[in-house]
Amino acid sequence: MNETARVRENLDGQSALLGIERAKGRVLSSFSSMEVNSLGPNVGQISRDFMVPEPAPFRLPAIPFLEMSGVSKGFGTGAKRNEVLREINLSIREGEFVAIVGYSGAGKTTLVSLLSGLTKPDQGTVTLRGEFMKGPGPDRALVFQNYSLLPWLTVYENVALAVDEVFGRWSAEERRAQVEKFIAMVHLTAARHKRPSELSGGMRQRVSVARALAMDPRILLLDEPLSALDALTRATLQDEIARIWSRDRKTVVLITNDVDEGIYLADRIIPLGVGPGATLGPSFPIEIARPRERKTMGASPQFRKLRREVTDYLLKAAMANRQPVTRKLVLPRIEPEDLNKPRNYFKRHAVRRAEEKTETINLP
Ligand SMILES: Nc1ncnc2c1ncn2[C@@H]1O[C@H](COP(=O)(O)OP(=O)(O)OP(=O)(O)O)[C@@H](O)[C@H]1O
Ligand SMILES: [Mg+2]
Repeated sequence: MNETARVRENLDGQSALLGIERAKGRVLSSFSSMEVNSLGPNVGQISRDFMVPEPAPFRLPAIPFLEMSGVSKGFGTGAKRNEVLREINLSIREGEFVAIVGYSGAGKTTLVSLLSGLTKPDQGTVTLRGEFMKGPGPDRALVFQNYSLLPWLTVYENVALAVDEVFGRWSAEERRAQVEKFIAMVHLTAARHKRPSELSGGMRQRVSVARALAMDPRILLLDEPLSALDALTRATLQDEIARIWSRDRKTVVLITNDVDEGIYLADRIIPLGVGPGATLGPSFPIEIARPRERKTMGASPQFRKLRREVTDYLLKAAMANRQPVTRKLVLPRIEPEDLNKPRNYFKRHAVRRAEEKTETINLP
């Protein structure tokens, strides 16, 4: 077998991309071993065949877009210190839709605040396109769990404030159209002149969603954006989020406590364990074809398997975090009558039993 044929065989047909001449050593030495390692086993074989120090890449390594690396975060000091997140590693590709699901109090809002740049990690790094996150920016819109609307502004003005901030160069007419469009999307046109105090919790949450979407951010961080909504409105907005994502391919991080919602919307779902010191579990890729059909998806074996796996992980994480505690129960100073002893009806007092009880309980 001649040299060319051997390279062809080693590359499983990819030699056309590389170019036999380039493989003969001159170009190869200019790439680092890290880049080479990311290319797979066949490429190492080429360098051995040609006795050259480093093989050449024929495709770029995937660069993470939004990344958390070794992140820990806690609040307070001394005895009152509360370690919330520990060793969080998360790498999100551009255009990916990731859902993070976890129990209440596990640290989901803390995690999304770190991703938005609103808070800083105690340890580890948060990077966007390889650069350290310095603070919040217009390329990242966060839908807060508690809506965070300005109480003295109407629905229209709350959304308009964000639109004016991001699209200051647009004409007044264009900005007005953008605000109206997203208010209509969340079905609040009739309430556009109301202030937050005049709205229900679900309506406020919809304003918050409209405000984030109207900013047309590259990264959408959604902290349980639909939790206060009734099932029908929730389903409508889920569909809207799915549609916007399919159209614009924004990078979306959805925090949710609803496993089904995560599976319906995301590319992968990651459970967050239980605190203190919660860590992220494994990523569960969701390979259900899009557009996903809500009615039929629930019955699919793929959906059921995923739901079972994610739920099992969360249940196990909660069980592992339980600590049996033995404590002495102090019973009230009332002695129950001992029914095992026959009562002597001639005596005035019943036979009383004094006992102290010790029991083992699980503290959540
Ligand atoms: N600013 C803060 N100061 C002190 N403790 C905080 C702060 N923010 C969060 N915590 C604590 O961190 C823990 C996690 O809170 P976090 O809001 O991140 O949970 P969560 O998973 O979003 O809960 P939920 O699902 O109820 O919204 C809680 O014990 C909370 O008391
Ligand atoms: Mg929260």
